[in-house]
Amino acid sequence: MIFSAAVVLLGMLVSTSASGTGTSLDPCVPDDCGIGATSCVFDVKLVAVGNAVAYFEFDACPGVQQPTLGLKRDVTYRFNQYDSTNIMHPLGLAYYTDGAHNDVEELEPTIVPPGTTSSCDTNNGCPAPMYYQGETFQGNFVASGGGGADFGLDAYEPFFKYPDFAWGGPDAGPNTIPAVSPSGVAVTAPLNWNMRITQTATDFDQDFFYFCHIHTGMSGRIKQLAADGTILSPNDFPALFPASLYPAPEYKVVSTGQEQICGTVGLNTFFEDTHNGKCPTSFICTEGLSFDTESANFNECLDAMDCAMQFNMIIVPNATDPIVTFVHSMVPHHINAIQMCKTLMQTGLEDDAFLALCWNIVNTQSLQIMEMNEYLASNSIPEGSAKCFDTPAAALAGSANNNGNSEPFSNQEPFFISITVFVAATFVVAVGSFFAARRYFEGNEEANVVGGKSVKMVDDNAL
Ligand SMILES: *[C@@H]1O[C@H](CO)[C@@H](O)[C@H](O)[C@H]1NC(C)=O
Repeated sequence: MIFSAAVVLLGMLVSTSASGTGTSLDPCVPDDCGIGATSCVFDVKLVAVGNAVAYFEFDACPGVQQPTLGLKRDVTYRFNQYDSTNIMHPLGLAYYTDGAHNDVEELEPTIVPPGTTSSCDTNNGCPAPMYYQGETFQGNFVASGGGGADFGLDAYEPFFKYPDFAWGGPDAGPNTIPAVSPSGVAVTAPLNWNMRITQTATDFDQDFFYFCHIHTGMSGRIKQLAADGTILSPNDFPALFPASLYPAPEYKVVSTGQEQICGTVGLNTFFEDTHNGKCPTSFICTEGLSFDTESANFNECLDAMDCAMQFNMIIVPNATDPIVTFVHSMVPHHINAIQMCKTLMQTGLEDDAFLALCWNIVNTQSLQIMEMNEYLASNSIPEGSAKCFDTPAAALAGSANNNGNSEPFSNQEPFFISITVFVAATFVVAVGSFFAARRYFEGNEEANVVGGKSVKMVDDNAL
């Protein structure tokens, strides 16, 4: 009895210390990566849960959204992107969140790690990911100056945009062989894409990040470890998803609370019949009917996300630019498609055709959201339009603007509400424009601080 308890306890200790829990205090490390190991392996796949797209999952710490990884200096880590869920998600490494998506530096042979005095750039020797197909290096980089700075990304990344038959379908395991490469070259070896990193800069202890070269918002932290596993830089620096760059909360949150049954983020205040005053009606009619648990969960999620979409699509249109109005309306619409698919996958979806369909929706529509938001950014327009509820009506009602929560409108039509708000706003402007404008800007400022002015699929109060 005592013996078996000791064995169980030992087993727990070993399994905990071997792989970590994926937090900053207890980073995720490969199982085979003890003291003295010189090469370690992470198997990578993606799970369509949480944040804007999906999260990278590492076999060493399954189920952890956006896990923090632990990497030792001078040890070579191999990230196997064999699983077909890696399609559209070539893994990169950057010194700051999201790398080139934010015009910040990535790990490259010619980029000196920030805060160091290294001259690694003179011989292409700075720490950088190296991209492989199986055992074949895809670049022409040779350490210590030979060959140039090509570390293989230009060959690697295009394959990840390739149709999924290159991977053999959603459950195919190791990559299968496509007929031709994206550049038209016949491919005869298994794909087995993998990225490898050996961090050799001795004066660089700071955290860095993994990210997706195609999608923003999928970054996770990497903490550097000493040979014995001690964390070199206990502070979480630089920030992951700094608020200045990521006002939209969906990028930086994992599913919590009720929304976990949906696999989404941002739904927690849109549930139940009342939808917290955000929607006038139920989007599903379940009265008198009975459902199994899976279906009941799906229905509840659908109701919440449909309310969120409607709530976020009631917007103030742009006076001169229909594209702006289109983007402000289409982004919540796309988010709904993505969320519906995440929720369908959460039901334990096993239908291969629907799995492929849903991954396609998640990957491509999130990319389209990025593209649409780029139009706004290039015109210096905030991602989230002013919503009809972000008007002086809240000031008129004498309560703080918190995106309509102070104005529950159950049993009324949104159109009617919009008209009412419009009339009220006009009245306020006419009577006291200075007062109204001041309250308006105060209200917007508060909303931005709390939850961001972006696509607003997340209710501010949820955070
Ligand atoms: C409306 O669109 C135009 C053109 O893209 C832009 O300059 C303007 O700032 C937009 N207005 C608002 C309120 O976003």
